[in-house]
Amino acid sequence: MDLPTAAATTQVTPDLRICRVLNGLWQVSGAHGPINRQAAIQDMFAYHDAGFTTWDLADHYGPAEDFIGEFRRRLAAERGVEALSQIQAFTKWVPESGQMTRQIVEENIKVSLRRMGVDSLDLLQFHWWDYGDANYLEALRYLAELRDEGKIRHLALTNFDTAHLKIIVEHGLRIVSNQVQYSLIDRRPEVQMSPFCQAHDIQLLTYGTVGGGLLSGTYLGQPEPSRGALTTASLRKYKQMVDAWGGWGLFQELLVVLKRIADKHQVSLANVAVRYILDRPAVAGVIVGTRLGVAEHRQDNARAFAVTLDAEDRGQIEDVLAKSRDLYQLIGDCGDEYRR
Ligand SMILES: NC(=O)c1ccc[n+]([C@@H]2O[C@H](COP(=O)([O-])OP(=O)(O)OC[C@H]3O[C@@H](n4cnc5c(N)ncnc54)[C@H](OP(=O)(O)O)[C@@H]3O)[C@@H](O)[C@H]2O)c1
Repeated sequence: MDLPTAAATTQVTPDLRICRVLNGLWQVSGAHGPINRQAAIQDMFAYHDAGFTTWDLADHYGPAEDFIGEFRRRLAAERGVEALSQIQAFTKWVPESGQMTRQIVEENIKVSLRRMGVDSLDLLQFHWWDYGDANYLEALRYLAELRDEGKIRHLALTNFDTAHLKIIVEHGLRIVSNQVQYSLIDRRPEVQMSPFCQAHDIQLLTYGTVGGGLLSGTYLGQPEPSRGALTTASLRKYKQMVDAWGGWGLFQELLVVLKRIADKHQVSLANVAVRYILDRPAVAGVIVGTRLGVAEHRQDNARAFAVTLDAEDRGQIEDVLAKSRDLYQLIGDCGDEYRR
């Protein structure tokens, strides 16, 4: 399987090209069931060879950074060091709030560099728990220094709201992307985040776009699952979003419409959910979680690049979405659910 290069990739910056469906590695953290290390690394080759060359991970996703390190070592050993330039691995730094010194920031970045086996992080996404503590600006200043010194190629954020992204931009800090929840269920980014990003040349990387698998054919026509039947942390997280958004009955209505559109284009329901978000302004890529060595949807997800939704499709989707609750009113801007 070869991805259609032009449709499947995008230039995030002049020196950073990514696959628009990124492989998410929260799924190897342990919160989504056990992962076998050897099978996982082997599976990483399959993603890479299929064209899914971009990885999203974090310092706290269990062994995710070590997996990148081992994958890189094996890729270099088997195919030569030049093969390493085909990988893009985006990690996160999620520190506890509090005072930030150059030493604290640098030591944490060094850990990721060592674990991933790189001299420079392709993209570092910074998270901050408490807006009441303005030390996030200090942390970002030191991260920008490390970027200018070559330890980080691109500086990015995750789960920042628009108000604080604006403050960061106003402080002259150059930010490439913000990673946020964005799906047919959670369209909060459209209220403020997306227009701001468009105006400031900042890209969105999205998660939750297939709702942990809820936004797929698997759940079409199914009775409402009990919490015990939701076997991964993702499914539990996004079922709560569905509940807040409008509940299982309305969700089924949405799945029926998505299935009709999917059949019309001869793709899967999940493809329609991914395509819809890929087409939204400011969205560079959609992250789809991968339970490495356990389950895979490569061939199916590759079809998201081939489908074109038309005005009729979008109209039918909007008709159902218009019946849902407004999550921006209910929860707040992007990432507000993470604020302590
Ligand atoms: N910044 C943050 O705060 C944050 C939060 C959450 C996630 N993330 C990032 O986003 C990534 C994705 O995580 P997520 O929680 O949002 O999960 P997700 O991508 O919405 O769901 C992943 C699951 O969807 C199912 N799936 C994928 N493609 C499918 C297809 N074509 N058909 C049917 N099912 C399909 C798979 O389930 P099975 O494995 O059961 O087949 C997969 O494990 C994470 O790994 C992480 O990188 C970031």
